[in-house]
Amino acid sequence: MTNNAQWSSRLGFILASAGSAIGLGAIWKFPFWAGANGGAAFIIPYIVFTFTIGLALVMAEVAIGRRGRGSVVSAMRRVGGRWFGTLGALGVLTSFFILSYYSVVGGWCVAYLWDAIQGNVTINDANLLKSHFGHLVSTPELNVFWHFVFLTLTCGTVALGVESGIERLSKYLMPTLFILMLAIIVRGLTLPGAWAGVEYLFNFSWDKVTSNAILNAMGFTFFSLSLGAGILVTYGSYLSDKTDVPNASLWVAVLAIQAALLAGLMIMPAVFAFGLEPNGGPGLVFVTVPMIFSHIPFGGVFALLFYICLLVAALTSAVSLLEVVTAYLQNEWHLSRKVATIVNWVSLFLLGSVSALSFGPWSGFTVSGRNFFDLLDYICSNYMMPLGGFAVAILAGWVAWPMMRQQITAVKPYSEAALSLLRIMIAFLAPILVAVAIYQGLFGG
Ligand code: PFF
Repeated sequence: MTNNAQWSSRLGFILASAGSAIGLGAIWKFPFWAGANGGAAFIIPYIVFTFTIGLALVMAEVAIGRRGRGSVVSAMRRVGGRWFGTLGALGVLTSFFILSYYSVVGGWCVAYLWDAIQGNVTINDANLLKSHFGHLVSTPELNVFWHFVFLTLTCGTVALGVESGIERLSKYLMPTLFILMLAIIVRGLTLPGAWAGVEYLFNFSWDKVTSNAILNAMGFTFFSLSLGAGILVTYGSYLSDKTDVPNASLWVAVLAIQAALLAGLMIMPAVFAFGLEPNGGPGLVFVTVPMIFSHIPFGGVFALLFYICLLVAALTSAVSLLEVVTAYLQNEWHLSRKVATIVNWVSLFLLGSVSALSFGPWSGFTVSGRNFFDLLDYICSNYMMPLGGFAVAILAGWVAWPMMRQQITAVKPYSEAALSLLRIMIAFLAPILVAVAIYQGLFGG
């Protein structure tokens, strides 16, 4: 069965894909991760990777999707044969797993937005903020409730369909996200002492250029472009034949980088201006950031804007993950979109609840020190997504290069030199680098 849904415009595709890319990774990982990995020594390779293998793999996924016109399983099978269909199923599973725990974090974003609406998050006491957050994640009914709310928002959007659900959501929310981020940046940069945060992010010194910083930059490129989970294959399958794939892909990459850099500028200058600790993950957005808002005039308003940003970023990424699974159930199991959404809603609620409970009553269940939530994240980010990316590179670079070439040049001719360069990236550089990253994850430090 093929898909006949389509984006209403090129912009719709670009904003939905950028919405997928720009998520919690950009906002809660990048600012801290860039600083911890040596500032510019991380940011420069991140930008280089994004515009080389990252962009090449984005184009490959979109091309496979548009040619295969179906879910990631149908599309990869149609383009590369039965085995690639099976590898596509890995993408469906990856998206399903990621969404189950992403939705728990999304729930925290809704909970904090709710707090911000009531004016409850601008507290100038780190211990109180820590215990507030600890209470949220370790209280089963709270954590499961907010996970349910976020999942319902995600399922509701996807149930409405590609154009009236996902595209409409992205078209309104992505521009809003940029405007809100700019407002917060201007506020942060005008604080005395803010410059130290900019330096933390962008300082460059040669001795920080280490293989670790470079590998981390590659891993982040992968995660931040939502590669290897079937998302861009699925979104590509709704793309019109009249859209130029390289150009649309370039836009997605540019917007993803821009959002990460803006997130860095939104958070770090203020963190340094108030002498707070630049840490990562939940601690940054749910403990440190509220401290900042407690220090500035109209902090409550900025807190509200910030948690709206966070929720928008999380929601547009979650929707993309869900669409991968929904398209699969529609294409392969012939379920209607509504029924597929209900199946997903129930099963993701159950699996996500295990992640939610792994911070509370089930925190005793650990594998090499990781609770269920961390374990799923670790397996998805370090193995399943890279493996998915590897499969796409082999398919587009080796097995179906003529198809790839045809998709790339379908609207506009590109020079032979550009095409050869693209092939070198997809067929050689991408698989080698991904294999190194997987090896490093398995056997490296
Ligand atoms: N790219 C998103 C982020 O940076 O938060 C997260 C993400 C979405 C990762 C979808 C992977 C994925 F398949």
